[in-house]
Amino acid sequence: MTPDEGPYRIVQATWRDVRAVRCLERAAFSVDAYPWFELLAMLTFPGVVNFKAVTQDGRLVGHIAGDPRPSEGFSWIVTVAVDAAHRRRGIGRRLLRTCEAALATPRIRLTVRAGNTGAIALYEQEGYRRCSVWRRYYRDGEDGIIMEKYLMEDGFGRETRGIGR
Ligand SMILES: CC(C)(COP(=O)(O)OP(=O)(O)OC[C@H]1O[C@@H](n2cnc3c(N)ncnc32)[C@H](O)[C@@H]1OP(=O)(O)O)[C@@H](O)C(=O)NCCC(=O)NCCS
Repeated sequence: MTPDEGPYRIVQATWRDVRAVRCLERAAFSVDAYPWFELLAMLTFPGVVNFKAVTQDGRLVGHIAGDPRPSEGFSWIVTVAVDAAHRRRGIGRRLLRTCEAALATPRIRLTVRAGNTGAIALYEQEGYRRCSVWRRYYRDGEDGIIMEKYLMEDGFGRETRGIGR
């Protein structure tokens, strides 16, 4: 590992990670977790971008998937989760940035529970803005907030702004 990576490496995830991703999903999302066959599809479907965070001893402690929809002009962040014992160490942010860099669409969208203030704080810091609400989207009746980020470059490959409503 290079010194700037710290104790975690972000690398591509594959179908071989399905079991570890399923464990992570169940712990992070409980009843909202994707079933294993959908995770397997996510990890194998051509075009879907998957990254994982691994510890020095190779344990998977984070995962993100992004689904590009070039014809619609945006990609969806399908899921992102970090093992509870490894949160607040910058893994979620690194996963998000790595995934965004691999998604070649001008905009990126995601859905988040209205009460998930921690994730919303992270997304706002990373340039995502609330663009709509899906009422009672989750099975317990909680609203889903749609957030969107507009990736623009300033000529030096740097993002300059996110869009608001
Ligand atoms: C959301 C999640 C992926 C964030 O992962 P993480 O590795 O802890 O995030 P980071 O360490 O990169 O956080 C970066 C910043 O985001 C903000 N943030 C992240 N989690 C936060 C929380 N629980 N409360 C408040 N702010 C939070 C903080 O500003 C944090 O910086 P700081 O730790 O220096 O204060 C993780 O909490 C998680 O897996 N949650 C359960 C699954 C989930 O809700 N996924 C999102 C679904 S839309």
